[in-house]
Amino acid sequence: MDVTVAPAARLFGSIRVPGDKSISHRAAILGGLASGVTTVRNFLRAQDCLRTVECLRDLGVTIEANGDRLVIQGAAGHLREPDRALDAGNSGTTMRLLAGVAAAQPIAVVLDGDDSLRRRPMDRVAEPLRRMGAHVGVREGRYPPLRIMGARLRGITYELPIPSAQVKSAVLLAGLFAESETVVVEPVTPRDQTERLLVEFGVGLRREGRRIMLAPGLPSGREVTVPGDLSSAAFFLAAAAARLGSKVTVEEVGVNPTRAGVLEVLEQMGAAVEQDPPRGEPGEPTSTVTVQGGRLRGVTIRGAIVPRVIDELPVLCVIAATAEGRTVVRDAAELRTKESDRIAVIAAGLRALGVAVKERPDGIEIRGGRLRGGTVDAAGDHRIAMAFVVAGLLADAPVTVRGAEAVSVSFPGFFEALDGLGGKATPAGPSGDG
Ligand code: S3P
Repeated sequence: MDVTVAPAARLFGSIRVPGDKSISHRAAILGGLASGVTTVRNFLRAQDCLRTVECLRDLGVTIEANGDRLVIQGAAGHLREPDRALDAGNSGTTMRLLAGVAAAQPIAVVLDGDDSLRRRPMDRVAEPLRRMGAHVGVREGRYPPLRIMGARLRGITYELPIPSAQVKSAVLLAGLFAESETVVVEPVTPRDQTERLLVEFGVGLRREGRRIMLAPGLPSGREVTVPGDLSSAAFFLAAAAARLGSKVTVEEVGVNPTRAGVLEVLEQMGAAVEQDPPRGEPGEPTSTVTVQGGRLRGVTIRGAIVPRVIDELPVLCVIAATAEGRTVVRDAAELRTKESDRIAVIAAGLRALGVAVKERPDGIEIRGGRLRGGTVDAAGDHRIAMAFVVAGLLADAPVTVRGAEAVSVSFPGFFEALDGLGGKATPAGPSGDG
Protein backbone atom coordinates (compact mmCIF):
# COMPACT_ATOMS: atom_id res chain seq x y z
CA MET A 1 0.00 0.00 0.00
CA ASP A 2 1.31 3.44 -0.97
CA VAL A 3 -0.08 6.54 0.72
CA THR A 4 0.22 10.20 -0.09
CA VAL A 5 0.42 12.55 2.86
CA ALA A 6 -0.60 16.18 2.56
CA PRO A 7 1.23 18.98 4.37
CA ALA A 8 -0.61 19.86 7.61
CA ALA A 9 -0.98 23.40 8.89
CA ARG A 10 -1.00 22.02 12.44
CA LEU A 11 -1.89 18.92 14.45
CA PHE A 12 -4.31 19.25 17.28
CA GLY A 13 -6.12 16.93 19.68
CA SER A 14 -5.96 14.24 22.30
CA ILE A 15 -5.46 10.53 21.60
CA ARG A 16 -4.66 7.18 23.15
CA VAL A 17 -2.24 4.87 21.43
CA PRO A 18 -2.27 1.04 21.49
CA GLY A 19 -0.41 -0.93 24.16
CA ASP A 20 3.37 -0.92 24.57
CA LYS A 21 4.98 -3.46 22.25
CA SER A 22 7.84 -4.45 24.55
CA ILE A 23 5.57 -4.96 27.57
CA SER A 24 2.97 -6.87 25.52
CA HIS A 25 5.58 -9.42 24.37
CA ARG A 26 6.94 -9.82 27.88
CA ALA A 27 3.55 -10.12 29.59
CA ALA A 28 2.51 -12.88 27.17
CA ILE A 29 5.79 -14.77 27.61
CA LEU A 30 5.88 -14.53 31.41
CA GLY A 31 2.19 -15.45 31.56
CA GLY A 32 2.93 -18.47 29.36
CA LEU A 33 5.74 -19.66 31.63
CA ALA A 34 4.01 -18.86 34.93
CA SER A 35 2.06 -21.02 37.31
CA GLY A 36 -1.62 -20.06 37.31
CA VAL A 37 -3.60 -17.67 35.16
CA THR A 38 -2.40 -14.34 33.76
CA THR A 39 -4.74 -11.71 32.37
CA VAL A 40 -3.29 -9.04 30.12
CA ARG A 41 -5.29 -5.89 29.41
CA ASN A 42 -4.57 -3.46 26.56
CA PHE A 43 -2.38 -6.08 24.88
CA LEU A 44 -0.98 -4.74 21.59
CA ARG A 45 -2.82 -6.56 18.80
CA ALA A 46 -0.21 -5.82 16.17
CA GLN A 47 1.58 -8.33 13.95
CA ASP A 48 4.73 -8.52 16.10
CA CYS A 49 2.99 -9.32 19.38
CA LEU A 50 0.50 -11.66 17.72
CA ARG A 51 3.52 -13.65 16.48
CA THR A 52 4.60 -14.09 20.11
CA VAL A 53 1.12 -15.34 21.00
CA GLU A 54 1.14 -17.85 18.09
CA CYS A 55 4.61 -19.11 19.01
CA LEU A 56 3.55 -19.60 22.63
CA ARG A 57 0.52 -21.57 21.46
CA ASP A 58 2.84 -23.74 19.35
CA LEU A 59 4.79 -24.33 22.58
CA GLY A 60 1.63 -25.67 24.23
CA VAL A 61 0.39 -22.57 26.07
CA THR A 62 -3.38 -21.98 26.08
CA ILE A 63 -4.15 -18.34 25.30
CA GLU A 64 -7.63 -16.98 24.88
CA ALA A 65 -7.79 -13.61 23.12
CA ASN A 66 -10.81 -11.37 23.40
CA GLY A 67 -10.16 -8.00 21.81
CA ASP A 68 -7.12 -6.56 23.53
CA ARG A 69 -7.53 -8.84 26.56
CA LEU A 70 -5.56 -12.07 26.85
CA VAL A 71 -6.23 -14.84 29.32
CA ILE A 72 -3.22 -17.14 29.56
CA GLN A 73 -3.17 -20.53 31.30
CA GLY A 74 0.45 -20.68 32.39
CA ALA A 75 2.44 -23.82 31.54
CA ALA A 76 4.16 -23.73 34.96
CA GLY A 77 7.57 -23.87 33.34
CA HIS A 78 6.92 -26.90 31.11
CA LEU A 79 6.59 -26.16 27.41
CA ARG A 80 5.81 -28.69 24.69
CA GLU A 81 8.06 -29.41 21.72
CA PRO A 82 6.44 -27.66 18.76
CA ASP A 83 5.67 -29.72 15.66
CA ARG A 84 6.74 -26.95 13.29
CA ALA A 85 9.27 -24.13 13.19
CA LEU A 86 8.16 -21.16 15.30
CA ASP A 87 7.50 -18.18 13.03
CA ALA A 88 8.60 -14.89 14.60
CA GLY A 89 7.59 -12.97 11.45
CA ASN A 90 9.23 -9.53 11.48
CA SER A 91 9.78 -9.51 15.24
CA GLY A 92 13.28 -9.49 16.71
CA THR A 93 11.82 -9.37 20.22
CA THR A 94 9.81 -12.56 19.62
CA MET A 95 12.84 -14.42 18.30
CA ARG A 96 15.40 -13.29 20.86
CA LEU A 97 13.20 -13.59 23.95
CA LEU A 98 11.81 -16.97 22.93
CA ALA A 99 15.38 -18.17 22.26
CA GLY A 100 16.02 -17.58 25.97
CA VAL A 101 12.85 -19.42 26.91
CA ALA A 102 13.54 -22.41 24.62
CA ALA A 103 17.15 -22.73 25.82
CA ALA A 104 15.96 -23.88 29.25
CA GLN A 105 13.42 -26.48 28.04
CA PRO A 106 14.32 -30.11 27.28
CA ILE A 107 12.91 -29.76 23.76
CA ALA A 108 14.10 -28.99 20.23
CA VAL A 109 12.89 -25.66 18.83
CA VAL A 110 13.49 -23.98 15.48
CA LEU A 111 12.89 -20.21 15.37
CA ASP A 112 12.51 -18.57 11.98
CA GLY A 113 11.20 -15.29 10.57
CA ASP A 114 10.62 -13.18 7.47
CA ASP A 115 13.31 -11.94 5.07
CA SER A 116 14.07 -8.89 7.22
CA LEU A 117 14.44 -10.93 10.43
CA ARG A 118 16.60 -13.48 8.58
CA ARG A 119 19.14 -10.71 8.02
CA ARG A 120 19.35 -9.68 11.70
CA PRO A 121 22.15 -10.86 14.03
CA MET A 122 21.28 -13.67 16.43
CA ASP A 123 24.81 -14.59 17.53
CA ARG A 124 24.28 -11.98 20.24
CA VAL A 125 21.78 -14.31 21.96
CA ALA A 126 23.31 -17.61 20.82
CA GLU A 127 26.60 -16.86 22.52
CA PRO A 128 25.39 -16.29 26.13
CA LEU A 129 22.81 -19.08 25.87
CA ARG A 130 25.58 -21.50 24.82
CA ARG A 131 27.62 -20.37 27.80
CA MET A 132 24.67 -21.30 29.99
CA GLY A 133 24.72 -24.81 28.48
CA ALA A 134 22.16 -24.77 25.65
CA HIS A 135 22.87 -25.95 22.10
CA VAL A 136 22.11 -23.11 19.70
CA GLY A 137 22.74 -23.36 15.97
CA VAL A 138 22.62 -20.28 13.72
CA ARG A 139 22.95 -19.90 9.96
CA GLU A 140 26.36 -18.67 8.79
CA GLY A 141 27.40 -18.23 12.42
CA ARG A 142 24.98 -15.37 12.89
CA TYR A 143 21.53 -15.45 11.31
CA PRO A 144 18.13 -17.16 11.69
CA PRO A 145 16.83 -19.78 11.62
CA LEU A 146 17.93 -20.60 15.15
CA ARG A 147 18.02 -24.29 16.09
CA ILE A 148 17.88 -24.71 19.82
CA MET A 149 18.22 -27.86 21.89
CA GLY A 150 17.48 -26.86 25.43
CA ALA A 151 19.32 -28.21 28.46
CA ARG A 152 19.65 -27.92 32.21
CA LEU A 153 21.31 -24.52 32.32
CA ARG A 154 23.86 -23.03 34.70
CA GLY A 155 23.63 -19.46 35.87
CA ILE A 156 26.33 -17.18 34.45
CA THR A 157 27.60 -13.67 34.96
CA TYR A 158 27.15 -11.95 31.64
CA GLU A 159 28.58 -8.57 30.76
CA LEU A 160 26.33 -7.20 27.99
CA PRO A 161 28.62 -6.31 25.07
CA ILE A 162 25.91 -4.09 23.51
CA PRO A 163 23.14 -2.20 25.30
CA SER A 164 20.40 -4.53 24.03
CA ALA A 165 17.27 -5.19 26.08
CA GLN A 166 16.51 -8.20 23.92
CA VAL A 167 19.82 -9.88 24.73
CA LYS A 168 19.49 -9.03 28.43
CA SER A 169 15.96 -10.44 28.41
CA ALA A 170 16.97 -13.68 26.67
CA VAL A 171 19.59 -14.31 29.37
CA LEU A 172 17.22 -13.45 32.23
CA LEU A 173 14.40 -15.62 30.85
CA ALA A 174 16.80 -18.54 30.47
CA GLY A 175 18.08 -17.81 33.99
CA LEU A 176 14.61 -18.42 35.46
CA PHE A 177 15.24 -22.14 35.03
CA ALA A 178 18.99 -22.30 35.63
CA GLU A 179 20.63 -24.21 38.49
CA SER A 180 22.08 -21.10 40.08
CA GLU A 181 21.87 -17.31 40.10
CA THR A 182 22.19 -15.39 36.82
CA VAL A 183 23.89 -11.99 36.80
CA VAL A 184 23.72 -9.50 33.93
CA VAL A 185 26.09 -6.54 34.02
CA GLU A 186 25.02 -3.57 31.89
CA PRO A 187 27.27 -0.93 30.29
CA VAL A 188 24.34 1.53 30.18
CA THR A 189 20.79 0.48 30.98
CA PRO A 190 18.72 -0.48 27.96
CA ARG A 191 14.96 -0.62 28.62
CA ASP A 192 14.26 -2.43 31.90
CA GLN A 193 10.76 -3.69 31.25
CA THR A 194 11.70 -7.35 31.63
CA GLU A 195 13.11 -6.70 35.09
CA ARG A 196 10.07 -4.71 36.21
CA LEU A 197 7.69 -7.38 34.98
CA LEU A 198 9.72 -10.24 36.50
CA VAL A 199 9.40 -8.53 39.88
CA GLU A 200 5.65 -8.07 39.30
CA PHE A 201 5.41 -11.81 38.58
CA GLY A 202 7.03 -12.53 41.95
CA VAL A 203 10.50 -13.55 40.73
CA GLY A 204 13.52 -12.83 42.95
CA LEU A 205 15.36 -10.11 41.05
CA ARG A 206 17.39 -7.26 42.43
CA ARG A 207 19.65 -4.60 41.03
CA GLU A 208 22.87 -3.20 42.48
CA GLY A 209 24.26 -0.44 40.30
CA ARG A 210 25.01 -1.96 36.92
CA ARG A 211 24.40 -5.56 38.10
CA ILE A 212 21.07 -7.35 37.81
CA MET A 213 20.82 -10.51 39.90
CA LEU A 214 18.14 -13.10 39.21
CA ALA A 215 17.36 -16.08 41.44
CA PRO A 216 15.89 -19.06 39.55
CA GLY A 217 12.18 -19.51 40.17
CA LEU A 218 8.78 -19.87 38.60
CA PRO A 219 6.80 -16.68 37.85
CA SER A 220 3.29 -16.55 39.34
CA GLY A 221 0.38 -15.58 37.09
CA ARG A 222 -1.09 -12.13 37.64
CA GLU A 223 -3.04 -9.28 36.06
CA VAL A 224 -1.12 -6.88 33.84
CA THR A 225 -2.41 -3.67 32.29
CA VAL A 226 -0.19 -2.52 29.44
CA PRO A 227 0.32 1.26 29.15
CA GLY A 228 0.16 2.99 25.76
CA ASP A 229 3.31 2.72 23.65
CA LEU A 230 5.47 5.85 23.80
CA SER A 231 7.26 4.74 20.64
CA SER A 232 3.92 4.89 18.77
CA ALA A 233 2.94 8.16 20.43
CA ALA A 234 6.31 9.60 19.42
CA PHE A 235 5.29 10.00 15.77
CA PHE A 236 2.50 12.40 16.67
CA LEU A 237 4.36 14.11 19.49
CA ALA A 238 7.32 14.75 17.20
CA ALA A 239 5.10 15.99 14.37
CA ALA A 240 3.39 18.39 16.78
CA ALA A 241 6.76 19.56 18.09
CA ALA A 242 7.83 20.59 14.60
CA ARG A 243 4.69 22.54 13.65
CA LEU A 244 4.22 25.84 15.44
CA GLY A 245 0.59 26.14 16.62
CA SER A 246 0.21 22.37 17.14
CA LYS A 247 -0.77 20.77 20.42
CA VAL A 248 -1.07 17.00 20.82
CA THR A 249 -1.90 15.13 24.02
CA VAL A 250 -1.41 11.40 24.47
CA GLU A 251 -3.22 9.85 27.43
CA GLU A 252 -2.18 6.81 29.46
CA VAL A 253 1.17 6.41 27.79
CA GLY A 254 4.17 4.61 29.30
CA VAL A 255 6.96 6.94 30.42
CA ASN A 256 9.47 4.42 31.75
CA PRO A 257 12.65 6.54 31.96
CA THR A 258 14.77 3.83 30.30
CA ARG A 259 12.89 4.47 27.08
CA ALA A 260 11.50 8.00 27.37
CA GLY A 261 14.52 9.87 26.02
CA VAL A 262 12.43 11.18 23.13
CA LEU A 263 10.65 13.62 25.45
CA GLU A 264 14.00 15.08 26.56
CA VAL A 265 15.18 15.43 22.98
CA LEU A 266 11.97 17.18 21.87
CA GLU A 267 12.37 19.63 24.73
CA GLN A 268 16.03 20.22 23.87
CA MET A 269 15.02 20.90 20.28
CA GLY A 270 12.68 23.64 21.47
CA ALA A 271 9.22 22.06 21.87
CA ALA A 272 7.13 22.52 25.02
CA VAL A 273 6.68 19.13 26.72
CA GLU A 274 4.33 18.69 29.68
CA GLN A 275 3.84 15.52 31.67
CA ASP A 276 1.35 14.70 34.44
CA PRO A 277 2.96 13.10 37.51
CA PRO A 278 3.49 9.44 36.56
CA ARG A 279 1.28 6.73 38.07
CA GLY A 280 1.82 2.99 38.18
CA GLU A 281 5.08 2.78 40.12
CA PRO A 282 6.73 0.46 41.13
CA GLY A 283 5.55 -1.30 37.94
CA GLU A 284 5.44 0.70 34.73
CA PRO A 285 5.02 4.49 35.12
CA THR A 286 2.20 5.88 32.99
CA SER A 287 1.31 9.49 32.33
CA THR A 288 -0.48 11.95 30.06
CA VAL A 289 1.95 13.81 27.83
CA THR A 290 1.33 17.01 25.87
CA VAL A 291 3.64 18.51 23.28
CA GLN A 292 3.26 21.95 21.73
CA GLY A 293 5.13 22.98 18.63
CA GLY A 294 8.06 25.37 18.67
CA ARG A 295 10.80 26.69 16.44
CA LEU A 296 13.09 23.70 16.55
CA ARG A 297 16.87 23.75 16.58
CA GLY A 298 19.29 20.97 15.72
CA VAL A 299 20.76 18.84 18.53
CA THR A 300 23.47 16.27 19.15
CA ILE A 301 22.25 12.82 20.21
CA ARG A 302 25.08 10.56 21.38
CA GLY A 303 26.27 8.47 24.31
CA ALA A 304 24.06 7.18 27.12
CA ILE A 305 20.81 8.63 25.80
CA VAL A 306 20.99 6.61 22.56
CA PRO A 307 19.48 3.34 23.91
CA ARG A 308 16.72 5.44 25.49
CA VAL A 309 15.66 6.90 22.11
CA ILE A 310 16.74 4.13 19.78
CA ASP A 311 13.31 3.41 18.26
CA GLU A 312 12.44 7.12 18.03
CA LEU A 313 15.56 8.12 16.08
CA PRO A 314 13.87 7.73 12.65
CA VAL A 315 11.19 10.30 13.46
CA LEU A 316 13.65 12.56 15.30
CA CYS A 317 15.82 12.59 12.17
CA VAL A 318 12.78 13.59 10.11
CA ILE A 319 11.89 16.56 12.31
CA ALA A 320 15.57 17.51 12.51
CA ALA A 321 15.35 18.16 8.76
CA THR A 322 12.91 21.02 9.53
CA ALA A 323 14.93 22.45 12.44
CA GLU A 324 17.37 25.32 12.38
CA GLY A 325 20.97 24.13 12.25
CA ARG A 326 22.61 20.74 12.19
CA THR A 327 21.58 17.57 14.01
CA VAL A 328 24.20 14.94 14.75
CA VAL A 329 23.41 11.35 15.77
CA ARG A 330 26.35 9.20 16.89
CA ASP A 331 26.93 5.97 18.86
CA ALA A 332 23.88 4.51 17.12
CA ALA A 333 25.38 1.72 14.97
CA GLU A 334 22.63 -0.52 16.40
CA LEU A 335 20.23 1.28 14.03
CA ARG A 336 21.81 -0.70 11.22
CA THR A 337 20.60 -3.99 12.75
CA LYS A 338 16.91 -3.11 13.08
CA GLU A 339 14.02 -4.08 10.78
CA SER A 340 16.02 -2.30 8.06
CA ASP A 341 19.40 -0.59 8.03
CA ARG A 342 17.76 2.49 9.48
CA ILE A 343 20.77 4.77 8.99
CA ALA A 344 20.93 4.02 5.26
CA VAL A 345 17.15 4.09 4.79
CA ILE A 346 16.65 7.40 6.65
CA ALA A 347 19.52 8.96 4.70
CA ALA A 348 18.06 7.81 1.37
CA GLY A 349 14.56 9.00 2.27
CA LEU A 350 15.66 12.41 3.50
CA ARG A 351 17.81 12.93 0.39
CA ALA A 352 14.78 12.10 -1.77
CA LEU A 353 13.01 14.96 0.05
CA GLY A 354 15.81 17.41 -0.68
CA VAL A 355 17.69 17.26 2.63
CA ALA A 356 21.50 17.34 2.88
CA VAL A 357 22.63 14.37 5.01
CA LYS A 358 25.91 12.64 5.78
CA GLU A 359 25.82 8.98 6.66
CA ARG A 360 28.31 7.77 9.29
CA PRO A 361 29.05 4.19 10.33
CA ASP A 362 27.39 4.87 13.70
CA GLY A 363 24.97 7.66 12.88
CA ILE A 364 23.92 10.47 10.63
CA GLU A 365 24.28 14.23 10.26
CA ILE A 366 21.35 16.25 8.98
CA ARG A 367 21.40 19.81 7.79
CA GLY A 368 18.13 21.39 8.96
CA GLY A 369 15.98 23.59 6.76
CA ARG A 370 13.00 22.34 4.82
CA LEU A 371 11.53 19.13 3.50
CA ARG A 372 10.40 19.05 -0.12
CA GLY A 373 7.65 16.80 -1.46
CA GLY A 374 8.59 13.53 -3.14
CA THR A 375 8.42 9.75 -2.88
CA VAL A 376 10.17 7.57 -0.32
CA ASP A 377 10.28 3.84 0.33
CA ALA A 378 9.52 2.39 3.76
CA ALA A 379 11.89 -0.55 3.05
CA GLY A 380 9.42 -2.89 4.77
CA ASP A 381 10.10 -1.16 8.10
CA HIS A 382 7.17 0.02 10.24
CA ARG A 383 8.99 2.84 12.00
CA ILE A 384 10.46 4.14 8.74
CA ALA A 385 6.98 4.16 7.18
CA MET A 386 5.52 6.20 10.05
CA ALA A 387 8.52 8.55 10.23
CA PHE A 388 8.08 9.44 6.54
CA VAL A 389 4.36 9.94 6.98
CA VAL A 390 5.41 12.60 9.50
CA ALA A 391 7.76 14.01 6.83
CA GLY A 392 4.70 14.42 4.59
CA LEU A 393 2.90 16.44 7.28
CA LEU A 394 5.89 18.79 7.55
CA ALA A 395 6.96 19.06 3.90
CA ASP A 396 6.24 21.89 1.42
CA ALA A 397 4.35 19.50 -0.89
CA PRO A 398 2.82 16.00 -0.62
CA VAL A 399 5.01 13.01 0.18
CA THR A 400 4.19 9.51 -1.06
CA VAL A 401 5.30 6.66 1.20
CA ARG A 402 5.70 3.32 -0.55
CA GLY A 403 4.97 0.20 1.49
CA ALA A 404 3.02 2.00 4.21
CA GLU A 405 1.20 -1.23 5.17
CA ALA A 406 4.27 -1.95 7.36
CA VAL A 407 2.67 0.23 10.08
CA SER A 408 0.55 -2.76 11.13
CA VAL A 409 3.67 -4.43 12.55
CA SER A 410 3.45 -2.17 15.63
CA PHE A 411 0.63 0.34 15.25
CA PRO A 412 -2.72 -0.82 13.92
CA GLY A 413 -4.93 2.28 13.80
CA PHE A 414 -2.03 4.61 12.98
CA PHE A 415 -3.84 6.26 10.06
CA GLU A 416 -7.08 6.67 12.06
CA ALA A 417 -5.14 8.38 14.85
CA LEU A 418 -3.44 10.62 12.30
CA ASP A 419 -6.80 11.56 10.84
CA GLY A 420 -8.16 12.36 14.32
CA LEU A 421 -5.36 14.89 14.82
CA GLY A 422 -5.97 16.61 11.49
CA GLY A 423 -3.40 14.80 9.30
CA LYS A 424 -4.45 13.66 5.83
CA ALA A 425 -3.12 10.50 4.19
CA THR A 426 -4.82 8.99 1.16
CA PRO A 427 -4.09 5.84 -0.85
CA ALA A 428 -1.77 6.74 -3.71
CA GLY A 429 -2.56 5.74 -7.30
CA PRO A 430 -0.76 2.67 -8.77
CA SER A 431 1.93 4.95 -10.19
CA GLY A 432 2.51 6.34 -6.72
CA ASP A 433 1.78 9.88 -7.87
CA GLY A 434 -1.05 10.33 -5.48
C1 S3P B 1 13.20 -3.99 22.33
C2 S3P B 1 14.51 -3.63 22.46
C3 S3P B 1 15.21 -2.77 21.48
C4 S3P B 1 14.22 -2.04 20.59
C5 S3P B 1 13.14 -2.94 20.08
C6 S3P B 1 12.35 -3.52 21.24
C7 S3P B 1 12.62 -4.90 23.34
O1 S3P B 1 16.05 -3.59 20.68
O2 S3P B 1 14.90 -1.44 19.52
O3 S3P B 1 12.24 -2.26 19.22
O4 S3P B 1 11.39 -5.02 23.42
O5 S3P B 1 13.40 -5.51 24.07
P1 S3P B 1 17.50 -4.11 21.16
O6 S3P B 1 17.34 -4.98 22.32
O7 S3P B 1 18.05 -4.86 19.97
O8 S3P B 1 18.29 -2.88 21.45
